[in-house]
Order: sequence, then structure tokens, then C-alpha cells
Amino acid sequence: MRQNNEVILTMERVSFRYSPGTPFERLALIDIALRVMRGERVAVVGQTGSGKSTLAGLCNGILKPSDGNVTVFGMDTRGDAKIQKQLRAKVGHVMQNPEDQLFEQYVGDDVAFGPLKLGLTLDEARERARSAMAAVGLDFTEKDTPIYTLSRGRKRLVAIAGILAMEPELLILDEPTSGLDPLTAKSLLDSLSAMCEEKGTTLLLITHQLSEVLQLANRVIVMDHGKISRDGDPEAIFLAAEELPFGLDVPDEVIMAKRLQAAGVRIERKDWNAEGFAATMANSLLNREVKDGKLTKLE
Ligand SMILES: Nc1ncnc2c1ncn2[C@@H]1O[C@H](COP(=O)(O)OP(=O)(O)O)[C@@H](O)[C@H]1O
Ligand SMILES: [Mg+2]
Repeated sequence: MRQNNEVILTMERVSFRYSPGTPFERLALIDIALRVMRGERVAVVGQTGSGKSTLAGLCNGILKPSDGNVTVFGMDTRGDAKIQKQLRAKVGHVMQNPEDQLFEQYVGDDVAFGPLKLGLTLDEARERARSAMAAVGLDFTEKDTPIYTLSRGRKRLVAIAGILAMEPELLILDEPTSGLDPLTAKSLLDSLSAMCEEKGTTLLLITHQLSEVLQLANRVIVMDHGKISRDGDPEAIFLAAEELPFGLDVPDEVIMAKRLQAAGVRIERKDWNAEGFAATMANSLLNREVKDGKLTKLE
């Protein structure tokens, strides 16, 4: 994983209020401090309403902090129109609702819209659209499909392709797999993972699925009522999962790893899968026996 010491995103004492000064005022983020380095893959998890999408919106300047500062690639997100343009070019944000960002009538036009806006030629934009569509598993012939005929899941894939086509340095995905079947979801994440690796893209992935965190992220932030309640290594945080805010489903592989560790069998993070569990257990049984439900070393 490419990663260096360049800080690309900073939040300092950031709070965010929706509809300030109205009866609908709502404090969505409270005193957030965050630093993201280039090349990191950060997952943001937490219950519905904990502030994940608001946090994402602050990262590319769609939302401005009510208090504190947000700096992205050295630019204050409160900056002028020129800065906003530069932010849009470097920060790609796939919103939670794909309908919020699809404007064109046909798939191809929508995916090529961003690259054209960046000033690329028609041919270049077409190439960008082609490879972005491939990356999300859409056939290029679908470029001529009217968007309104697509399911919500496929609209989401089009929205993701439209952002990938701009080749952002920071890619923010707000629940990208919701509405997708498990197989499509997994292949999308695999493909995004390969793309981030290849291009050195920094990733901020918002998700409900802790197993997606294990698949994709090297850092996890747990949001709870507008605050960051945990920030660190996914393995360590999930192994202490009973302390996590209510409402997060701990993935089976974490439960399994935890049970094995409690039984005295060490299992590395890379082996948290069916093959790894089987091999680890087989190996440990060669050297141990089960006594009173516990594994003990053979004399
Ligand atoms: N447009 C809005 N106007 C008013 N309140 C909002 C708006 N969007 C979100 N909120 C509120 O802000 C809080 C955080 O919401 P959000 O960031 O969408 O959380 P999450 O993405 O974790 O579900 C919630 O209490 C939500 O009801
Ligand atoms: Mg949300």
C-alpha cells in the first residue's frame, strides 16, 4: 500500500449545524479532529444519524464547517470559487443517494460529464468513461442506456463511474454498496481496491458493513452521536467490539478470530477467512488436544 507522510485532509475543532437559527437546527458534528494522510484507506462506520454523511460533505466543501477549520490539499474549504473548482477536481464524492448526482439523460454522457468539465477532449473523456465504467462492472455498450430505466443499484454504479472518471486524488464513497447484491458489491470493492492501489488514491469509505472495512480499509473511524468515538486499526477496534456503539454488526470473521484467540489460538489478520480459519485450526489441533472445551498443549 502506497502511503507517505503527506497530510491531505485536516479537521480542527470542527462542528457542523444544519439550519442554524431555525426551529430545525441540528448539531450534526461536534468538535471533530481528524488528519488523513495520502494513500490511507479510511472507513467511517457508525449508526444512522451519527454524522457520517455530514463528515463526508465537509471534505469537498459541499458543506462548510459551522466552527473550526477544514483543510484539504492545503486549501481551506471556505475558499473562493477558484478554490472550490480545484477542490472538486481533486476530491471525488459519491453521495449516499445516486439520484442526487445524476443529471444527464444517458449513462455515457453522465460518466463523461466530469472529465469534460475538467477540460479533457471528447476522445479523452470517452476513454476515461470507458475505463471507469469497466472498473464498476458496467459494459461500455450501456453508455446509450437512459438513466431513468436503471435500478437504484445500477444508478449507484453510474454515479461511482462518473466520479472515478475524474480520477480524484481523494475518493469519498458514501455507502457505495447499498442496494447492490453481495456478489456485485464484493467485485465493486475489489475493483475499487485495485484502482486505489494502482493510482495511489486516498479513500474515505462510509459503510454500515464492518466486513467491508476488513476488505478495504487500513484505518477505521467509528462515529457516535456526531463525535469520533474510535479511530485506529480495524482489527484492534473490532476485537474490542462489545465496546462499540450499539447498532453495528460485528462480522462473523471477527467473532471467529476472537473465539479462536480466547481458546489460545493465534490467528493473523490476513487469515481471517474460511481457508485461514480451517488451516489455523487444523495446524493447532496437530499440537494440541481439546480438554474441557479448551485447547491444551500436548505433553
Ligand atoms: N439536511 C439536513 N437537515 C437537517 N438535519 C440533517 C440534515 N442531514 C442530516 N441531518 C441530521 O444530522 C445528523 C447526522 O446526519 P448524517 O450525517 O446524515 O448521518 P449518517 O450519515 O451517519 O446517517 C442526523 O441527526 C440527521 O438527522
Ligand atoms: Mg449517511
